[in-house]
Amino acid sequence: MVEPSLNLIEYISMNKKKNYILPDLKAARVRTPGDDAIFRTDFSLPEATVDLGKGRYYFIRTYGCAANERDSETLAGLFERMGYAKTDAMEQADVILLNTCAIRQNAEDKVFGQLGAIKQLKRNNPDLILGVCGCMAQEEATVNLILSKYPQVDLIFGTHNIHRLPDLLLNAVLSKERTVEVLSNQGEVVENLPAQRNSRHKAFVHIMYGCDKFCTYCIVPFTRGKQRSRKMADIIDEVNQLKTQGYKEVTLLGQNVNAYGKDLDGQTTFATLLEQVALTGIPRIRFTTSHPFDFEDEMITVIAKYDNIMPAIHLPVQSGNSDILKLMGRRYTREHYLTLVDKIKTAIPDVTFSTDIIVGFPNETQAQFEDTLSLVDRCQYDLAYTFIYSPREGTPAAKMEDHIPFSEKQKRLQQLNERITYYSNLNNQKYKDAIVEVLVDGPSKKNDDVWSGYTRHNKLVNFSGEGIHCGDIVQVKITEVKSYSLDGIAINNGETNE
Ligand code: SAH
Ligand code: SF4
Ligand code: F3S
Repeated sequence: MVEPSLNLIEYISMNKKKNYILPDLKAARVRTPGDDAIFRTDFSLPEATVDLGKGRYYFIRTYGCAANERDSETLAGLFERMGYAKTDAMEQADVILLNTCAIRQNAEDKVFGQLGAIKQLKRNNPDLILGVCGCMAQEEATVNLILSKYPQVDLIFGTHNIHRLPDLLLNAVLSKERTVEVLSNQGEVVENLPAQRNSRHKAFVHIMYGCDKFCTYCIVPFTRGKQRSRKMADIIDEVNQLKTQGYKEVTLLGQNVNAYGKDLDGQTTFATLLEQVALTGIPRIRFTTSHPFDFEDEMITVIAKYDNIMPAIHLPVQSGNSDILKLMGRRYTREHYLTLVDKIKTAIPDVTFSTDIIVGFPNETQAQFEDTLSLVDRCQYDLAYTFIYSPREGTPAAKMEDHIPFSEKQKRLQQLNERITYYSNLNNQKYKDAIVEVLVDGPSKKNDDVWSGYTRHNKLVNFSGEGIHCGDIVQVKITEVKSYSLDGIAINNGETNE
């Protein structure tokens, strides 16, 4: 077992003098080149916390992206190792943890609403521990607001130190005092962490943490720290273990997976990693998110070569106008993006694309917005996540003057969404009467008699069939096509065809 590095202990004890370790956005912006600033450690459960949760329940609510979902699986794993049992009823919990997202103001508002609702639970059960972690906990202003206005919060920790949950919880329980430990260093890589996964056949695998891109609108580099890749051997071990446990699909996670390895020896690239993951033979591989800037030709070659790498690529464009892209700090132009899309399509003819788009970036003109619409016409995405720009304190874009009224931004979003739905529907038409391969998730959310799952191209399919089990890969004949899902009938009875 590797002990935590001295640097980290010094860092913590230095800051401990202040009692609370509070976030510091200025410190969070610092980047030291190379791997030197990164502490690599192995987790071990502190002795004193082994039975902390005996006879007690934990409840976690997760907001935000897949990185947070995966972190919550680690937090759940830590709770279970301390003897806590999971509950889905907040009222039953002895510890409630909100794993938060800071990407847009509306994500934060949801959390503040939830904190208000939990106040009553705290009155009924004064021993209840309420914790806030995740990206909001990394923000100075947010933590100050929680400290001054939300006395019901007992525990705050950030994204860099989720492995410290046992110690921090122990401190909160024993001291009955507020415990706050948010690190704004560049971050660590901690291996050997437990995980209580949400699915038994689909798994998220972190391949890297943090982000160094600093797109001008984005809070993530501040809340997640420096880009730091896990060692390839650790990732492959995890995938092999998952495969042995019967998992059918892994999604490799990073804010910018294409930059994987650039912070390591410089020899290991995402293409190398992807190929090694493909060679494990796990039936389905996905990855998210790909930044167009780092999408190299070797990656295209590897995706085209291996049948178990799914031909559905999430390629966030953000805007179709090169001047806006420049202001956003995205490091590519409209033309570069379109060339990349064409190159990928040539190498992988059945590929589909999804994307993220922001409307109403400061002072985006009508003509610039129309460039986004025309890019959507050109790319004909299968799916797009669309957002109104939300200023994030501490980011460069938040300081830009903006004369576009919010009502105008809402109008643009609606117009864009109509265009996106049009292409999603149009693309789905080709599946009418087709036979697709579906990885079964379970009964459909809306109707227990119907199964649901996703195709290789990430299309949601609701279908009927006999002898089906979660985790099967089945062939389904599509009978009806909708804008965002397909209906069908299974034509084999749930046997894995891999
Ligand atoms: N790392 C990913 C994005 C993670 S955040 C990438 O670079 O593609 C997910 C999406 O949220 C982004 O793609 C962007 O479209 C959106 N987003 C990020 N910051 C935002 C902000 N301040 N306002 C509105 N949308 C934002
Ligand atoms: Fe944010 Fe840009 Fe990093 Fe994505 S690449 S997380 S949008 S800074
Ligand atoms: Fe939100 Fe943090 Fe993910 S801000 S989108 S939870 S990286």
